Amino acid sequence: MNQSVAASKSFDFQAWLSNRVQQVEAMLDQTLPAADVVPGRLHEAMRYGVLGGGKRVRAALVYAAGEVSLQSAAPAAAQQIALDHAAAAVELVHAYSLVHDDLPCMDDDTLRRGRPTVHVQFDEATAMLAGDALQPLAFEALGAMPIAPALVVQAIQLLAAAIGSQGMVGGQAIDCGSVGQALEQAELQQMHRMKTGALLEASVLLGGVVAGASSSTREGLRKYASAIGLAFQVADDILDVTADTATLGKTAGKDALENKPTYVSTLGLDGSRQLLQELRDDARAALLPLGPSAASLAHLADYIVGRDH
Ligand code: IPE
Ligand code: IPE
Ligand code: MG
Ligand code: MG
Ligand code: MG
Repeated sequence: MNQSVAASKSFDFQAWLSNRVQQVEAMLDQTLPAADVVPGRLHEAMRYGVLGGGKRVRAALVYAAGEVSLQSAAPAAAQQIALDHAAAAVELVHAYSLVHDDLPCMDDDTLRRGRPTVHVQFDEATAMLAGDALQPLAFEALGAMPIAPALVVQAIQLLAAAIGSQGMVGGQAIDCGSVGQALEQAELQQMHRMKTGALLEASVLLGGVVAGASSSTREGLRKYASAIGLAFQVADDILDVTADTATLGKTAGKDALENKPTYVSTLGLDGSRQLLQELRDDARAALLPLGPSAASLAHLADYIVGRDH
């Protein structure tokens, strides 16, 4: 058994995760403009789309990668604050992507995180604008990190590259253009790595950049992130078929209904589950050189492949 797995036995992951979730919730609450600030309806929609739900996996990855990257056991207060900013930034981007993903012109979904989607609760134009406004807010949060300016620039470039036309948005474009088509596994993998993997990978790497990871730690983080980034969307495809709407908090069975090519439609359920386990093993193997402080990342890999929603 590897060191991080052995160490993780005494590690209370549930407590760790719930602390990190609380930490980012508080940060998001203070980062988002109040609903009574003009234009109130837009701010209300932004807060509705971000707060009160979500597993906060991307924020947790920022914190966990930060923990394994810090050079000293007692991190500087500025580094902790910067990790809070980075954790909030990735959740703001993620929330924007969900608000737009649910729009009638995209996946046309009415339920998200157990509540009506933003365009249903408000209206389509407000949902589009709320998503638009969440994006720059994320970059404002990164820009305000109290760490060396060179690291701030690196963080901004990293997130921008991950979510643009060669990352998340590009993946969403491929997704929209693939409805009704049977994709080869390589094409499907590229779409999933771009639309979902890229932001998850960026979350891990941001934690490393902000906490000043050594180049060998960054290398381990890169391999880990590549595996869990893809694993996350494979699990999402499986859950769309196997879980129910109440558990998911979003409409189950939507992929087949919309004729989306997914891992399940390409590899079948068993093949997808097997791939998921292989990706989990790859992720854990990448953590081996990083030692016991990678326990939270190791548990997050298990959580991502084993989650029920
Ligand atoms: C759902 O992401 C959309 C995908 C990229 C697969 P999550 O499963 O992380 O959604 P929340 O944030 O927990 O609602
Ligand atoms: C979402 O993928 C990817 C992004 C939002 C970038 P899905 O369309 O599969 O996500 P869900 O299933 O609606 O959460
Ligand atoms: Mg989609
Ligand atoms: Mg969707
Ligand atoms: Mg899905």
